[in-house]
Amino acid sequence: MELVSNLPVYQTVPEKYIFPPDKRPANDIVNHSINLPVIDLRGGRIDSDGQDEIIRDIMKAGKEFGFFQVINHGISTKTIDNMLQVCENFFKMPAQEKERYYSDDMSRAFFLNSSTQYDKSQTRYWRDYLRIACYPIEEFVDQWPEKPENFREILSEYTLRVREIASKILKLIAEGLGLHKDYFAGDLSKGNIKMEVNFYPPCPDPSLTMGLLPHCDRQLITVLAQGTAATGLQAKYKQKWINVKPIPSAFVVNFGHQLEIVTNGILKSVEHRALTNSTVARTSIATMTMPTMDCLIAPAKELVNENNPPMYKEFIFRDFIKAYDAALANREGVLEFFKLY
Ligand code: OGA
Ligand code: NI
Repeated sequence: MELVSNLPVYQTVPEKYIFPPDKRPANDIVNHSINLPVIDLRGGRIDSDGQDEIIRDIMKAGKEFGFFQVINHGISTKTIDNMLQVCENFFKMPAQEKERYYSDDMSRAFFLNSSTQYDKSQTRYWRDYLRIACYPIEEFVDQWPEKPENFREILSEYTLRVREIASKILKLIAEGLGLHKDYFAGDLSKGNIKMEVNFYPPCPDPSLTMGLLPHCDRQLITVLAQGTAATGLQAKYKQKWINVKPIPSAFVVNFGHQLEIVTNGILKSVEHRALTNSTVARTSIATMTMPTMDCLIAPAKELVNENNPPMYKEFIFRDFIKAYDAALANREGVLEFFKLY
C-alpha cells in the first residue's frame, strides 16, 4: 500500500498521480463569485409569513445548491478541532504504525487506504482516507485504533454530536417539505453512521492531481468538517464549480442519493470534488447518515401525486449499495438505474 502521507517531499508530482488532461481541475470553469449559503441554526425567528426562518433558509439553499454551511449548530469548536487534529495526527504517524490498518475491505469497522476507482487504480488520487464505522459506538469502538492518544474518546464524542446535528437538520427538512417532523427519524436514518476522513498532503503541482474526482454521496445526508487550513472542496452549481470556503467551526451539509429519492428530486444530491493545494495538508471529515440495510426507499407518498409522479423506483437500501459496490468505475451512473424517467 502506498500512502500519499508516506511520500517524501517531492519537487514534482510522481507520474502515477498525474491525471489525464481531461480529468484535471482546470478542465472545468470555477465561478469565484458565488458562495454557499451559511445558515445560523441558533436563529429561530418567525418571518412575516409565519414561517420559521431556519426552515425556509434550509429549503431555499437545499433546492438551489443541494449544499450549505451551518454555524451555531451546538457543537463546540473544541470538539471539532480535537477531531480534526487527532485525525491529522493519525496520518502523520510513522508508516509502520499505520501499516496494520491498510485494507479495502468494506466490512471492516476501520481501515486506511489510498486509491482511486475510475481507472482501476492506475492513476492515484492525492488523498489518503480512513473509513470508519462509527455508530452504534459500542458495536465498533473496540475495532478503532488506540493510537494516536485519545483517538477513541474523541471519535466517540464527535460521532454523537454530529449525529445530533444530522437529526436536527433532517427534522427541519421534513418540516420544510410538509412531512411529519420525524419522517426521517426511523429506518431512513437509523443505519450505521460511516465516516470518511480525508487527508490531502501538500502537493507540488495541484493542477495535475485530484484529491477526489467529481462524485455524489450515496447515503441520506453528509455533514462535513473541513478545518480552515485550505480551500479544496468544490460543489457543482449551474454547470460550474464553486469553492466551499472554509468557515471556522462550520459544517458543510449536502444531500445523498437516498434523500434525493425520498424527496422525489426536490432536494438533489449534487456533484462535488476535492482539489489539492501546494502549501498545507488539508483534513476533512465526512460523516454520513445512512438508512438501515433493510429500509425500503421510495419517494415519500406525501410528495407524489398525479402532477408529480414518482421519479424513482422503490428498492431496499441493501440493493442500492450492492449495485453501487458492483459498479466500481461507473458509480456515478448508479442513480440513473433507479430512475423511472
Ligand atoms: C467525501 C467528500 C470532500 C472533501 O468524502 O465524500 O466529498 O472536502 N469529501 O474532502
Ligand atoms: Ni463526497
